Amino acid sequence: MEYKFATERANYTDLASGNVFYSLPEHPAFPVRLASEIYQRCLDLRGKGSVPCTIYDPCCGAAYHLSTIAYLHWDSICRVICSDIDEKAAQLARRNLGLLTPGGMEGRSREISAMIRLYDKQSHKSALESLTRMQEQVNRLTAVRPIQTKVFRANATEATSMKEGLQSTEIDLVFSDIPYGQHSQWEGTQASNPAWAMLEALLGFLSPQSIVAITSDKLQKIGHEKYQRLEKLQLGKRQITILKPL
Ligand SMILES: C[S@@+](CC[C@H](N)C(=O)[O-])C[C@H]1O[C@@H](n2cnc3c(N)ncnc32)[C@H](O)[C@@H]1O
Repeated sequence: MEYKFATERANYTDLASGNVFYSLPEHPAFPVRLASEIYQRCLDLRGKGSVPCTIYDPCCGAAYHLSTIAYLHWDSICRVICSDIDEKAAQLARRNLGLLTPGGMEGRSREISAMIRLYDKQSHKSALESLTRMQEQVNRLTAVRPIQTKVFRANATEATSMKEGLQSTEIDLVFSDIPYGQHSQWEGTQASNPAWAMLEALLGFLSPQSIVAITSDKLQKIGHEKYQRLEKLQLGKRQITILKPL
C-alpha cells in the first residue's frame, strides 16, 4: 500500500499506546500512521464539505486508534462513538476517549505523576512530558470545539444490540479493526461470516454518503451485496477494505 495522505513518517511517540493513551493488555496497538492514512482516505472518498463528521467503531477494543485519529484530525470530527462486546474493553475505551477532554488529561497527569513518585522510572517521566504537550493541544482545541464521545457495550453483529446505544444516530464514517483470531476472537455470534453480519447490522445507521473502513486479516472475506467496495489495500498481515452502502 502506498501512503497517499500520511506521506511523512512523523514522530508519533507521544501517541504510543501505553504512554499517555491506555493499552489493552495482549492487544498489539494499531499503527498511528496507518490509522491516519485510512481515515484521510475515507474523508477523501466522502468528498469535500462533509466534515465535521461522526465516526463509529463497533469493535473498538480500547478505542486506541479512534482516540489517536480524533487527536490528530480534531477539526474534521465532531463525535466519536465506540462499542465493544467486552465490558473491560468498553471501560478502557471510555478512559481513552476521556483523554480528549481537559478533565481527562488532568486525571491522567495525576496518575502518571503518582507513578513517578512511586517508581521513579524514566518511562513514566517521558509519558508525563508527552502528556504536557498533548494537554496543551487538547485544551486549545476543546476551547474551539469539544469532541463528543460515547461508549457502550454491544454485539457488532446484531442490529438490535447496536440500536440500544446508537438510537437514531446517523454515522458518517465507520472505521473498525475487527477481531483477527490471533489476539481477539469474534464473540457472541454463530454467523459463518461475522464481518458480513456486522455490515448488515450497520446498514440501519448509515446514509448513502457514509463510508465504512474495515481492517482485518487476509483470511476474512469482507463484503456484502448491499455495499460497493471502493478500495482494497494490503499492508503486511492486514487487509483494509473501504466500502459504501449502495
Ligand atoms: C482487534 S480488537 C480492536 C482493537 C482496537 N482497534 C484498538 O485500537 O484498541 C477487536 C475487538 O473486537 C471485540 N469483539 C469481538 N467480538 C465482538 C462482537 N461480536 N461485537 C463487538 N465487539 C466484538 C473484541 O472484544 C476486541 O476488543
